[in-house]
Amino acid sequence: MERIDKIISEQTPYTRKQIKEKIKKHQVLVNGKEVLKPETKVKEEDIITINNEVLKIKKNVYLVLNKPKGYVSATEDKKSHTVLELISEEYRHRNLFPAGRLDKDTTGLMIITDDGSFSHEILSPKKHVKKTYKVTIDIPITNQMIEGFQEGVKLNDTICKPAILEKQDEKVALVTLTEGRYHQIKRMFGVYKAKVIELKRIQIGSFRIPEDLKEGKFRELTEQELKQIKQNN
Ligand code: URA
Repeated sequence: MERIDKIISEQTPYTRKQIKEKIKKHQVLVNGKEVLKPETKVKEEDIITINNEVLKIKKNVYLVLNKPKGYVSATEDKKSHTVLELISEEYRHRNLFPAGRLDKDTTGLMIITDDGSFSHEILSPKKHVKKTYKVTIDIPITNQMIEGFQEGVKLNDTICKPAILEKQDEKVALVTLTEGRYHQIKRMFGVYKAKVIELKRIQIGSFRIPEDLKEGKFRELTEQELKQIKQNN
């Protein structure tokens, strides 16, 4: 049992004050009956309507964003725009955060959610969820790089987990990682004196960035897509 004003404020952009007003104006019903006080407790199975519209309760939200360059993967930043600024008002009342970081100049697949355990599941190195990036570097890709990535590149005295480097063109490759260290791909190529020119994340688990999702746009994930994110094949 939870207070009705709490539930409505978690599920809609209405403030507590606005909810109080709506209750006063007889616009909030529970199972067809008028609610008289904001403190009224409701059960999970109760049907809440606001202005004759049934309130659809979503425990958590899961959004897929095609991140453009120039946005930081944070909830707040004093100097830069954050990826959360790309999410529309109707979701802003939730405690959303990006599940994993992409550098400011990296583009592509990003998951924004308010579900901490989901985020942990896809980020934890123990779960080995694969992330694939399309990378363009400034020099030709060599066999030495491909083999080195496969064996595990050494960064600051620790060895990275084996990564797959698939050459697509002279200077373009797909890189698949199962961990996410700070600037990992840039630093891995740096070991071979290569500079990353373009970096885009295109896949998490078996979920590929939707082709029709333009840069800067987002949408909710389906149940099926959520499952794909946690699966590696
Ligand atoms: N590796 C990087 O270097 N940057 C990213 O944004 C992601 C992976």
